[in-house]
Formats: sequence, C-alpha cells, structure tokens
Amino acid sequence: MTMKNTVLVKTITQVRKAVEAAKSSGKKIGFVPTMGALHSGHGSLIETAARQCDFVVVSIFVNPTQFGPTEDLAKYPRTLDADMELCRQTGADAVFAPEANEMYSREQLTWVDVEKLTTGLCGKSRPGHFRGVTTVCAKLFNIVCPHVAFFGQKDAQQAAIIKRMVIDLNFPLEIVICPTVREKSGLAMSSRNKYLSESQRADAGAINQSLQAACQAIISGQRQSTAIIALMREILDRTGVIETEYIHIVDSESLEDVDTITRPVLIAVAAKIGATRLIDNILLDAQALK
Ligand code: PAF
Repeated sequence: MTMKNTVLVKTITQVRKAVEAAKSSGKKIGFVPTMGALHSGHGSLIETAARQCDFVVVSIFVNPTQFGPTEDLAKYPRTLDADMELCRQTGADAVFAPEANEMYSREQLTWVDVEKLTTGLCGKSRPGHFRGVTTVCAKLFNIVCPHVAFFGQKDAQQAAIIKRMVIDLNFPLEIVICPTVREKSGLAMSSRNKYLSESQRADAGAINQSLQAACQAIISGQRQSTAIIALMREILDRTGVIETEYIHIVDSESLEDVDTITRPVLIAVAAKIGATRLIDNILLDAQALK
C-alpha cells in the first residue's frame, strides 16, 4: 500500500467537516476508534477499513471515563508521532485526536449503559469501565457518523456490548469485528504489552497456549466447561508468574456461562503478569464441535 497523506485533526468541527466533504463526494466512511499506542492489531483494523471503505477515520483518544480510579490512565502509553506513521502506512485518511476537554467539554450527565452484558467477565473487576466505553463510542459515532466501525475480537466483551448498543439505540452504522493479531509467541497484540519485560512477554505466551489446549480438548470430545477450565488454569499456573483473574466459557452473544458445550462458545481469559492485566479469548465455531 502507498503512504496516505493522513490529516491530523483535533476538533469535532474539523473531523465533521472532513467526513462531510468525503460523504458529499459519495465516499463510504470507515471508522476505527482507538486509544492510540497503535500496534499491528490496530494496523490490521485500519487496513481492513481501507479495503472496505473509501475514507477512513481513526480516533486516538485515551478516554478517561473508562479507567477506574486505581487504573493506568496517567501512565497509559501516548505515542502520537508513531501512531500517525502507522496510520499513514495502513491507509487512514484522517486521524481525530481530541484533547479530553474537547470530548468532555462540561460535566457528562448523560451515560450509555448496556445492561447484563457488562456485569460478568471484565465488568466484575472493572466497575464502570464499559459504561465509559459505550458512552465514548456513542459520542464518537455521533461525531464521526461513519457507515462502518471496526473493532478487534481481542476485546470480545467490548465487541458484544458495542454491537448490542448499536442495535438497541438504532445507530445507523455497521459494526465489523476483526480477528485478533498475535505476536510470534501467540500473545495477543495489546497496547499494554508495552508494560511487559522480555521474560514476562515470553511467559504471557501461555495465555494463548491455554486457549489452544482448550480448543484441542473440545475437538477431542471434551464438553464439560469445568474440566476445560481446570486444564487451562493448570497451564497458566505452571508459568509460576501468571495470576489468573478469570477463565469463562460463555455464549458469544449473551456472554452467559455455558456448562456443557453443545453450541459455539467464547472462551475468555483475564490474567495478570506483575502489574499488567492481559485479556485474550478464542471463538469456538460449530466446526470444532463436529
Ligand atoms: O478498545 C479501545 O481501544 C477502547 O475501549 C475504545 C473502543 C477506543 C473506546 O475508548
């Protein structure tokens, strides 16, 4: 792909103008919302958006309302120059990188809260997190007005919640979920991988190994979630450095626990290595259950 002449805009008025101009020449608008610290996972979302759409907007905004009081908002990596470079290489037309007071110009009194889907998995240990995510995504969808928005499967719960919000609130856009991009060790790409030391990064490969082992067990005929979860926990424990927060086998839409696997499921893990919290998952399709 040739380098794009990606424009950087900081205000809502500017991004709306850029999108309106593209729409008035008949272009299909793709949108990739991010918090920056972009890696090849984001790169693949932008490339997919560029293949499917004519004008791609990437937002870079470290959204304060989705961080808990003890979480890493202050130290979340901010790498705008490198992010711009990746956006140019992967085909973004515009980057919208607002300051916090542009997005939250006064006290936010209106919140979007998706029920049920937000209470389990990461919602348990991160109260209020998904309310921040859905609220900022609703704001961004209303600001950018894209035809299609692209999210990564790595954040499976976020993806299910956003899809549901778009249905429930009739947002006139399509949500596309793209596959997880992985490092050589199998570790899912994440901006938080930057916090890991060399050896932690190698140990973190066990998270994907545990998911692969779960798949193999299911393909070989195991259908009991408790047995699969125990197998995964053993693989994670063996590293001696991974502290498992949860392993759940759930329905991929309702996110409710599944005890006996008779239909496609999502296997989701959250774990800590040192102070770094990582999540990963795998979607098991009907093929694996044959
Ligand atoms: O996945 C993320 O990076 C964020 O949660 C998102 C969707 C950009 C909202 O701030």
